[in-house]
Amino acid sequence: MISKQLQRARDYEAERIPEIGNEERPVFHLTGGCGWINDPNGFSFFRGAYHLFYQYHPFSNVWGPMHWGHAKSTDLLHWERLPVAMAPDTSYDGEGCFSGSALEMPDGRQLLMYTGVHSESGDADDPGRYQTQCLAWGDGINYEKYEGNPVIFPETVPGGCVASDFRDPRLWREADGTYRCVVAAMTEKRTSRIVCFRSEDAFHWEYEGDIAESTKKLGGMWECPDYFALDGRQVLCVSPMAMMPEGREYHAGHNTLAIIGTRDPDGTFRQEAMQQIDNGIDFYAPQTLETPDGRRVMIGWMQAWSNSKFVPPGVKYFGQLSLPRELHVKNGRLMQEPVRELLACRSGQIIRKDETVKNGTVSFSGIEGRLIDMTVTVRDFSELKKLDIFVAADETYHTSVSFIPKRKMLRLDRNYSGYFYDIVHSRDMDVETDGGMLTLRLIMDRYSLEIFETGGGRCATMSLFTPLSAQGIFFRAEGTAHIDIEKYILQ
Ligand code: FRU
Repeated sequence: MISKQLQRARDYEAERIPEIGNEERPVFHLTGGCGWINDPNGFSFFRGAYHLFYQYHPFSNVWGPMHWGHAKSTDLLHWERLPVAMAPDTSYDGEGCFSGSALEMPDGRQLLMYTGVHSESGDADDPGRYQTQCLAWGDGINYEKYEGNPVIFPETVPGGCVASDFRDPRLWREADGTYRCVVAAMTEKRTSRIVCFRSEDAFHWEYEGDIAESTKKLGGMWECPDYFALDGRQVLCVSPMAMMPEGREYHAGHNTLAIIGTRDPDGTFRQEAMQQIDNGIDFYAPQTLETPDGRRVMIGWMQAWSNSKFVPPGVKYFGQLSLPRELHVKNGRLMQEPVRELLACRSGQIIRKDETVKNGTVSFSGIEGRLIDMTVTVRDFSELKKLDIFVAADETYHTSVSFIPKRKMLRLDRNYSGYFYDIVHSRDMDVETDGGMLTLRLIMDRYSLEIFETGGGRCATMSLFTPLSAQGIFFRAEGTAHIDIEKYILQ
């Protein structure tokens, strides 16, 4: 049965989507049909295809009562839009169907676990507002909410945690057939705990214990936990709100954190290392899945919360999801690179070897464009003070990536990238230069730039609103840079 709220969202989409031309959207990055999107949800493999849901408010470009938008793909890059999967249409989720996860059940149905937000008055600060964990199942297109919802409710919130901020269940099945989910819970002290629940059947849940806890320094509320084994290690990813800055690793405010450790047979998570997941401006609330060939792939919301109220006028949709990244743990660090499926989308190879850029600005014929996959290797930087790579550039606009070898850092700047708001436009990040070389892979999909650093596996993501007419790419050196460039068009 389709509720009137769900039907309204589907009808609204059918009217608005045709008004947005394909050329106004990125090619490989998922956008909502219309309106606003935030977190990826339910990223999973089901009946031969990848499914990706997202937090969705189709009716405007600002956050509103959350629906779940839905798309599927066979290559993680080209997404087929599917009808809106869920709307806030019950007493327990009438204020929103918040983030959650998905799983294929042994009986062949796809199970969605999400947070239902209930409020007595509809106000954001309503004391009668609480969050519960709910289930829906479906066939990959239509979903039915479970009549026993909510399955984790205020009375089962672990002691010391509050029901008003208790969300984003991450569900999985253990090798023994039992189920677990981790949920982000705010404590009475306004810190956060990642709490774990256990179930025999995915419908009846009991609290099992805690996985981790934040300190004030690591942020108040931790949102959107993900928890998985990778390369002999256990990884917990969380998205902390209100973090303290630290060096170039963490900035003030919302961050994304990977905690790497081990998981004891009794379930205890032993932490060994911690790092930022993405050092750019726009990346939050990532989720992962395991591909049928055993790769761990992550995708995030390509937007920062703090900038999200500044929607440039005339924009027809707001929010994109990131490029999916393959993950590894190497020497205690989370390493990321674009999914290998992207290689099949490359054409028009241009290679420039042993180019020298000396105290000035140069461009190279054929090295331009807004749909590109470009690897720049900086070799021998003994005489280099600074190398700027300008993309999405013309007389008015540019986005820059600057390498400062002495400080072992990159400076990212999108001040001239189509925004005219006084928001965060710049970040500094560490890069690995110990081998005397730096290799950066820059991927642009019209309205975004994602940078992957090969040596340390770091990456940095930002959304751009630069008009598409700005297609230029330039290199500027202070001192002498010796570079190789390998560039492809993406399609
Ligand atoms: C993270 C988040 C989640 C919540 C959702 C609401 O970006 O705040 O914690 O479920 O967005 O849209």
